[in-house]
Amino acid sequence: MTILDGKKISNDIKDEIAEEVKKMKLNGEKAPHLAAVIVGNDGASLTYVGSKVRACERVGFESTLVQLPNTCSEVELMDTIDELNANDDIDGFIIQLPLPPQINTEKVLLAVDPKKDVDGFHPMNFGKMALDMSTFIPATPFGILELFDRYGVETKGKHTVVIGRSHIVGRPMSILMGRKGFPGNSTVTLTHSHTKNISEITRQADIIITALGVPKFLKADMVKEGVVVIDVGITRVPDSTKTKGYYITGDVDFETVSKKASYITPVPGGVGPMTIAMLLKNTLLARDMHS
Ligand code: GUN
Repeated sequence: MTILDGKKISNDIKDEIAEEVKKMKLNGEKAPHLAAVIVGNDGASLTYVGSKVRACERVGFESTLVQLPNTCSEVELMDTIDELNANDDIDGFIIQLPLPPQINTEKVLLAVDPKKDVDGFHPMNFGKMALDMSTFIPATPFGILELFDRYGVETKGKHTVVIGRSHIVGRPMSILMGRKGFPGNSTVTLTHSHTKNISEITRQADIIITALGVPKFLKADMVKEGVVVIDVGITRVPDSTKTKGYYITGDVDFETVSKKASYITPVPGGVGPMTIAMLLKNTLLARDMHS
């Protein structure tokens, strides 16, 4: 069994990006600039955005954090987006999700200039991705593809089962795994809350990508020997014995499933750090597009 070490690979990627940024600066070019917008003070979202800003510093990017109150109106957020779209100094930006209920997420994502949409959430970029056109691929799916690539995990002709159809992970992942080329060329089954007999389907899977948010959902009796397991779940489970008051766990019962797996991602230290590295990569792409 091989651990797909997202922490290590993401550090390698960040080193590679830092090297490129160093060269850019030596050539007198401007460093890439990423902005992140966060609305409200959800603990997990603040942690993610904080990690994104720190990652920018680590590779030599410029970063801007825009913090808006939980009570922020849709119009205020739209004004912020207009400013970021118009600001030539900013190469790409993200709106951290989820947004509070008074704000229409669909409307907000449509307002982002597709050329600055480093999350790849704009319908134009999502459509381009589905049509094999060059575009921003959402950071978490992009990170999973990168893990397959760097570890040489074969995906061609394999049966990939995706659990969860979220717009951020499950849905794009199901499209990407079925695309022509590597990583891709898989036969894909997209499962969700209305799927019947999910264990029967997961037991036929060569590759399982789970993005559900249900701690330890995937058990050893649901997988076959040699399966490749990608765990995208990150759930905070309350635990008073921990200093933070919680511990982090994935969708996979790692202890038992890892005994049957050929490759598996840990939580934490698997897909999570890859997401941040690939957001930086997309920002670098955005910078190249604008220059
Ligand atoms: N919320 C959970 N994952 C993500 C992500 O990749 N990007 C943004 N913007 N929000 C998220």
